[in-house]
Amino acid sequence: MKVDVLLGLQWGDEGKGKVVDVLTPEYNVITRFQGGPNAGHTLVFNGEKYVLRSIPSGIFQGGKINIIGNGVVLDPILFKQEAVALAESGHDLKTRLYISKKAHLILPTHRMLDAAYEAAKGDAKIGTTGKGIGPTYTDKVSRNGLRVGDILENFDEKYAKAKAKHDQILKSLNFEYNIDALEKEFFEALEYIKEFKLIDSEHVINNLLKEGKSVLAEGAQGTLLDVDFGSYPFVTSSNTVCAGACTGMGIAPTKIGKVYGIFKAYCTRVGSGPFPTELFDEVGETICKNGNEFGAVTGRKRRCGWIDLVALKYAIMIDGVTDLIMMKSDVLDSFKTIKACVAYKINGETVTEFPFSINDDIKPIYKELPGWNCDMTKMQSEDEFPAEFKAYIKFLEEELEVPIKIVSVGPDRAQTIVR
Ligand code: GDP
Ligand code: IMO
Ligand code: MG
Repeated sequence: MKVDVLLGLQWGDEGKGKVVDVLTPEYNVITRFQGGPNAGHTLVFNGEKYVLRSIPSGIFQGGKINIIGNGVVLDPILFKQEAVALAESGHDLKTRLYISKKAHLILPTHRMLDAAYEAAKGDAKIGTTGKGIGPTYTDKVSRNGLRVGDILENFDEKYAKAKAKHDQILKSLNFEYNIDALEKEFFEALEYIKEFKLIDSEHVINNLLKEGKSVLAEGAQGTLLDVDFGSYPFVTSSNTVCAGACTGMGIAPTKIGKVYGIFKAYCTRVGSGPFPTELFDEVGETICKNGNEFGAVTGRKRRCGWIDLVALKYAIMIDGVTDLIMMKSDVLDSFKTIKACVAYKINGETVTEFPFSINDDIKPIYKELPGWNCDMTKMQSEDEFPAEFKAYIKFLEEELEVPIKIVSVGPDRAQTIVR
């Protein structure tokens, strides 16, 4: 069997959690392969709302195996909070959530380093989620990281060494902090983690595939936040693109099946960094209000703008997307016209390939399409779609050259139309 991958094509928050939950019945195993608690994946069903951060979104549908892969960075404190809250609401995951021994641990001092580096950047700050993601991946690559498997042997010694290094850096940055309480929580959480199955996930996943089990890999963040291909340096610190699923799970590229690319009918971004189609007017405010565009965990207001087809085409190319999923179509229900950016004007030149740097000099060139002006949130099939919305889908499919297979018209699991 192959691994299907579901990836965000924009700057995150496309609705990955919702669709992974919808697709879960088709799979035996759901995995996360990169990122960490910087993610906030929202699921709404049966009048309940859940926000998942490190735990895959496949936990609510019929006892499937869920795996946190080696490419993930895990904060034991936040993981424990998340798992305990789920257990309290009747979802005990201890027998069906496995954690890779190779996943790297976010230490309390990583969170401090994240804050210190952001403060040192001043106006140029990334606007990170403050969860220690960058410093943890930095330690991984510089070969100083601690992994989940390390908690099983001589952990105190390894921890003391890592902490001493971090203390030195924080001192050099004149960053004042006290992690006594956090440290206590951290060690308690490590004991809690030991109650889960800690596995060599690359072997487990490949064996499951050999046995004929189907796997869905759930991306976090989005392609435009990828450390190599995103709007660097305003990106996250992992490979959010399809290739990240191979390195973050230990599967060969030949094992990848479908690649689901998920995007909003418009575009959002949270944190700093360029955003060519960002709207600073009433239209942007209306999208923000209608789409309830506030961070799932941090509550930060998301910046809103029109869909950017230059960036989307780039993401589709890098990820090798086979199936598109359009989210939050209902958010545009009340607009007279809808705009889609089809090219950039840079220094008088028309550019259709996503450039090395996207900055303030970019002027988006828009195609304007008629809006549909009706409530789509209760629609159950494609046949009910208004003609203008059908035309919007057709236009996007022609531009992007990939079929849109799923359309979402509301946050609930039930508000999903498969074409
Ligand atoms: P993720 O990080 O990609 O999983 O996305 P988030 O959960 O951070 O953000 C998506 C937000 O949009 C959540 O609040 C969802 O409940 C909501 N949402 C998902 N799909 C739809 C949709 O089709 N319409 C509307 N109005 N909201 C949606
Ligand atoms: P999900 O999985 C949206 C953004 C941050 C910041 C940059 C770097 O819910 O789509 P980091 O803490 O990763 O070092 O921050 O990346 N960012 C996200 N934006 N959705 C996310 O995750 C994000 N995870 C990180 O806002 O700009
Ligand atoms: Mg999110």
